[in-house]
Amino acid sequence: MTNLQFLRLERDGYVATVFLNRPKQLNALNIGLMDELVATLEELDCDDSVRAMVLTGNEKAFAAGADITEMAGADPTTMLKRDQFAKWDRIRKLKKPLIAAVSGFCLGGGCELAMHCDIMIASETAQFGQPEIKIGVMPGAGGTQRLTRAIGKARAMEMVLTGKFISAQEAYQFGLVNRVVPAEVYLSEAQKLAHEIAAMSPVAVRLAKEAVLKVYESFLLDGLEFERKNFYLLFATEDQKEGMAAFLEKRAPQFKGK
Ligand code: HXC
Repeated sequence: MTNLQFLRLERDGYVATVFLNRPKQLNALNIGLMDELVATLEELDCDDSVRAMVLTGNEKAFAAGADITEMAGADPTTMLKRDQFAKWDRIRKLKKPLIAAVSGFCLGGGCELAMHCDIMIASETAQFGQPEIKIGVMPGAGGTQRLTRAIGKARAMEMVLTGKFISAQEAYQFGLVNRVVPAEVYLSEAQKLAHEIAAMSPVAVRLAKEAVLKVYESFLLDGLEFERKNFYLLFATEDQKEGMAAFLEKRAPQFKGK
C-alpha cells in the first residue's frame, strides 16, 4: 500500500479515506486503478485499526466511468478472458462499512462503483448517470441491477436507455444517495458519518451490514452475471467500436445496429 500509483490514502483515527487519483482523466477507472483499489480496500478491511472507510474522488469527478481507451478495441473473448469486472465483486464482499463521498461526475462505472458502497453522501454539484448507451454499450458492473433497485424500474430504464444524467437533488429524491450537502463539506460530512459508525461495536457493525446486504443482494447475483455477459457480448458489435472510437475522437457516433 506504500506505493500507490492511482490512489491516495489518508487515515484519521479509525477512519481511512481512499481518494481515486487520476484527475486528468476524471478518475476514469483503468485496470491498474481498480487492481490497486480492490487490494487497498481489502487490506484496510483486514486492518483492526480501521473501522470504517470513505471512498472519494475530487471536486470535479468521483469517476467518469471505466477507461474507454482500454476497452475501445476489445472483442468479447478478450473481455471474457480479462473478466476485469468480476473483481469488483470483492468490493461488495468487504466487511467494514464503505461510504462514498461524491462530487462532480459520477458516471458509468463510476456510478456503479459508488453503488457498491453502503452509504452515499453527495455534494450539490454531483451528477449521476449511466451514459454507456451513448458509446454503443450498456452498464457492466451492476448498473442495470443496483440502479433499478435503488431508484425503481421507470427511472432506471430512462437513465440506462438515454444516458441522461440526474442531479444530486434528483438522486436524493429518487433514493440513490443518503443526503446532499454543500460542495465544501461533502467529504467532511462523509468522514463525520464514518467516525460516528466507527464509534459503534465493530462486531455489531459488521453483522448488521451483512444482514442489510442479505436482503439487498437476494436475487442480485444472477442479475449481475446476466448483465456482465450482455456487456461482454456488445463487444462483438460494430456499434461498440464506433461508439467508443467516436468518444475518443471527440465526434458524434453513427450507429448502424450491427
Ligand atoms: C477514458 C476519459 C473518460 C473515460 C473522460 N475521459 N472520461 N477517458 N475513459 N470514461 C478523459 C477525456 O477523454 C479527456 O481526456 C479528459 O478525461 C477530460 O474529459 P473531457 O471529456 O475533456 O471533459 P468534459 O468536456 O468536462 O466532459 C466530461 C464528461 C466526458 C461529460 C464526463 O468526459 C464524458 O462523457 N466522459 C465519458 C463518460 C462515459 O461514457 N462513461 C462511461 C464509460 S463506459 P483528454 O486526453 O482529451 O484530455 C463504462 C462501462 C462500465 O463505464 C462497465 C463496467 C465498469
